[in-house]
Amino acid sequence: MQSVAVEMQGVSKGFKGLVANNKVDFRLLKGSIHGLLGENGAGKTTLMNILFGLYQPDEGEIFVDGSKVTIDKPSKAMDLGIGMVHQHFMLVKPLSVTQNIMLGLPSKKGPFLDTANVETALLELARKYHLMINPKALIKNLSVGEQQRVEILSVLYRGAEILILDEPTAVLTPQETKELFNILKLMRDDGKAVVLISHKLEEIINICDEVTVLRDGCRVANEKISCETTKSHLTNMMVGREVLFDFKDRSSDFGPDRLVVENLT
Ligand SMILES: Nc1ncnc2c1ncn2[C@@H]1O[C@H](COP(=O)(O)OP(=O)(O)OP(=O)(O)O)[C@@H](O)[C@H]1O
Ligand SMILES: [Mg+2]
Repeated sequence: MQSVAVEMQGVSKGFKGLVANNKVDFRLLKGSIHGLLGENGAGKTTLMNILFGLYQPDEGEIFVDGSKVTIDKPSKAMDLGIGMVHQHFMLVKPLSVTQNIMLGLPSKKGPFLDTANVETALLELARKYHLMINPKALIKNLSVGEQQRVEILSVLYRGAEILILDEPTAVLTPQETKELFNILKLMRDDGKAVVLISHKLEEIINICDEVTVLRDGCRVANEKISCETTKSHLTNMMVGREVLFDFKDRSSDFGPDRLVVENLT
C-alpha cells in the first residue's frame, strides 16, 4: 500500500468572478507519477500554485504527510518538501548553475559562499538522477532542456520529496522529453511523488501511474493508468464529449483552375 504524500480536499479558488478551481479533491501518492490533465484554462496551474504556496485557496484543506498545513508562501512549501518547476524558468542567465542554485539559500560558511561544497553535492545529485549538467556552466550558454535540468536539480537540492512540473515537455525536443521521463522514473523509484501537468495524452498514458482530470475548474475524474487506458477515453473526460481520432481523407472536386503560376523565379 503506497502512502499518501499530499491530499487536497475541496479546494476552490476564484479570480474576480471566474472560478479557476471548484471544490477540487486531489490525492498524490508517494513513489508515483501523477498526471494532471485538462484543457487550456481548466485550472491545473492554479491548483498546483496553491499547493506551492503562490496562491491562497478561498476554501478547502491541504494535508502533507497526513498533517493539515497552511502553505502561505513558496518557502513554506519548500520546507514541507514541495518543489515546483514552472513553465517559464526562473534562472539568472549571467550566473552559473551552482550560483543559481545557491541563490536565496543560507551558506554553511556564514557570510562566505560555500561554492565548492555545493558543487560537490550537486554533482552527486546529478549523478544519482542522471541530470547531466556542468555546475560551472553559465545559464546563458545552456539549451532549454539543460536549463530545465538545472531547475529540477535546484528543487532536489532543496530537499523536495514532492515535485510539480508544469507542462515540462512543451519546450523540449522528443529526445529531451525521453531523457526527462527517465529522470522522472528514477525519482518515482526513489519514492518521490511527481505531478506532471500536461495536456498531451500520450505522455499521460506512457509515463503516469495515475491521472486526475480537471474540466472548467472541477475535478471530473481520477483513475489509475493501465494498459487499457486509451487516448479517446482521456479526451472524453477532458472535454466532456466524444472526440473522433480517425479523420477520413475526403477528396474534393475543386472545379477548374482559377489561378495558375508556372516557372516563377
Ligand atoms: N492570476 C490570475 N488572475 C486572473 N485569472 C487567472 C489567474 N490565474 C489563472 N487565471 C484564470 O483561471 C483559469 C484557470 O487557469 P490555469 O492557468 O490554472 O489553467 P491551466 O489548466 O493551467 O491552463 P493552461 O493549459 O493554459 O496552462 C483560467 O481561466 C485563467 O485565465
Ligand atoms: Mg497552466
